[in-house]
Amino acid sequence: MSAAPIKNRVTEITGTDYPIIQAPMSWIARAQLASAVCNAGGMGIIETGSGELDAIRGEVQKMRELTDKPFGMNVALAFVKGSDFMDFVIEQSLPFVTTSSGSPAVCTEIFQQAGIKVFHVVPTLDMALKAIDCGVDGLIVEGGEGGGFKNPSPVSLMVLLPLIRSRTDIPIIAAGGICDGPSMAAAFAMGAEGVQMGTRMLSSAESPVHQNWKQAVVEAKETDTVFLNQQSRPALRALRTERTAALQPLGLFVWWREVEGEVNLHAAVPVPRFHLAAREGAAAVV
Ligand SMILES: Cc1cc2nc3c(=O)[nH]c(=O)nc-3n(C[C@H](O)[C@H](O)[C@H](O)COP(=O)(O)O)c2cc1C
Repeated sequence: MSAAPIKNRVTEITGTDYPIIQAPMSWIARAQLASAVCNAGGMGIIETGSGELDAIRGEVQKMRELTDKPFGMNVALAFVKGSDFMDFVIEQSLPFVTTSSGSPAVCTEIFQQAGIKVFHVVPTLDMALKAIDCGVDGLIVEGGEGGGFKNPSPVSLMVLLPLIRSRTDIPIIAAGGICDGPSMAAAFAMGAEGVQMGTRMLSSAESPVHQNWKQAVVEAKETDTVFLNQQSRPALRALRTERTAALQPLGLFVWWREVEGEVNLHAAVPVPRFHLAAREGAAAVV
């Protein structure tokens, strides 16, 4: 028996049964994973951080075939150049878009005029207040314990979420370290009306990454993430591996040079491009 649907402002906006959002993850948050989340009553999100517009077009087409439920997209502002991506997102008649890694000033109004609700990802109170000034419909408040690119000064969700909640009434989706019912309930107790999960979704059966990566996440201890590139932007949290552990003391490196190489999410062996993103997660398996 499935749980009773949850009615709140987030599910009203997303049109889903549950206020559970699958996080955008470059190359990973594609139709296979996102459609499974939608069909289970959550909000599946298609990524744009890969910058691969043609591939993203194909993934959106697949979504239409794999689910008749609403889904959303993330616009990773730092990685999306030109207006093609924006135009494509607008054409999809989506209920919900998340924006990240840049200022929502450039696109909030444009999306809203197309009937799309915009939630912006924020890692600090200052950035939350700026996003609110831009008129966003809601916030994704992300603690520094989350996987992937991060603010160089990470703030834990336990500190950040109540702080931002005390300064605004707009809907908040919490992210960072949420992986189960108790952590979701804790986020709701601190004022969230939804949760976004990355690492947990990455390691699910429906995720497209190699089983070894999923297993590495499942077997990781609480001390098994590293915080990289902290003296620069973007910093990032990744799973501790031989490679990422060696990068950690550097504090500063040209991250994109480190991730150059072949992308192959299904490889059982070290994957150069994913040394970091496998790279981006509380999740790497290299
Ligand atoms: C492997 C991986 C890749 C990610 N890629 C992106 C991305 O492309 N764009 C983005 O906005 N966030 C990205 N994130 C961050 C997630 O969207 C999400 O906010 C984060 O995973 C939440 O923390 P959690 O991993 O503890 O659930 C990524 C996270 C992971 C683990």
